[in-house]
Amino acid sequence: MKIGVLGSGDVARALAEGFLGHGHEPMLGTRDRAKLEPWVKENPKGASGSFAEAAKFGEVVVLAVKGSVAADVVRAAGIAHLAGKPVIDATNPIADAPPENGVLKFFTSLDESLMERLQREFAGARFVKAFNSVGSASMVNPKFKGGKPTMFICGNDESAKKVVTGILDAFGWETADMGAVEAARAIEPLCILWCIPGFLRQDWVHAFKLLS
Ligand SMILES: NC(=O)c1ccc[n+]([C@@H]2O[C@H](COP(=O)([O-])OP(=O)(O)OC[C@H]3O[C@@H](n4cnc5c(N)ncnc54)[C@H](OP(=O)(O)O)[C@@H]3O)[C@@H](O)[C@H]2O)c1
Repeated sequence: MKIGVLGSGDVARALAEGFLGHGHEPMLGTRDRAKLEPWVKENPKGASGSFAEAAKFGEVVVLAVKGSVAADVVRAAGIAHLAGKPVIDATNPIADAPPENGVLKFFTSLDESLMERLQREFAGARFVKAFNSVGSASMVNPKFKGGKPTMFICGNDESAKKVVTGILDAFGWETADMGAVEAARAIEPLCILWCIPGFLRQDWVHAFKLLS
């Protein structure tokens, strides 16, 4: 598949390399292509472009930018370029204020997640929350002593979630579908929990698993 990845940071690059490793064609989107020149040199099968070029290129699009600018980036990408496409939303609504005792602050509330805001404003895109509850280093082919970790996903469109579940299968995850977009109210804060051992003890290597 052609994958448009909106972003140039750790998450965008980790996922783009994962897509390359699994035989897909990624294009990273950024405001500043110069910063991706070294990445494209190291990954000659990958490409870079503007946010709009990456969104247009992708059959599937990944949103991997700072949470507070996610809506601006989708606007810059052009909603017409996202219409009908699965958009994997890896963002977290992290506020600029520093964490308190290792606990991040969000600019959203427990009654309204970032993905709900995006899905409401950009109704033509099929957002699926995924990859937000683990560090970028473990997003692709995660290896944990406790076995295969669980990726919690949600979104309103069943066919988009099917596409994302296929990607997660290939990347080595089991998927727990938590339902419609409102479930992002619970999935986005998993990022807060995931980060606490990191801020308190420099332990950034772990993932969640749902037991039954
Ligand atoms: N880091 C992780 O391990 C991790 C794990 C799970 C989820 N997440 C979430 O994934 C997202 C990406 O995280 P990240 O650590 O890779 O990078 P990040 O530093 O949170 O975001 C970098 C991206 O945001 C864009 N950006 C920043 N300010 C902007 C502005 N004013 N206008 C337009 N674009 C702007 C940058 O665009 P340019 O390319 O133009 O500079 C860049 O592509 C975040 O929402 C984060 O919370 C991160």
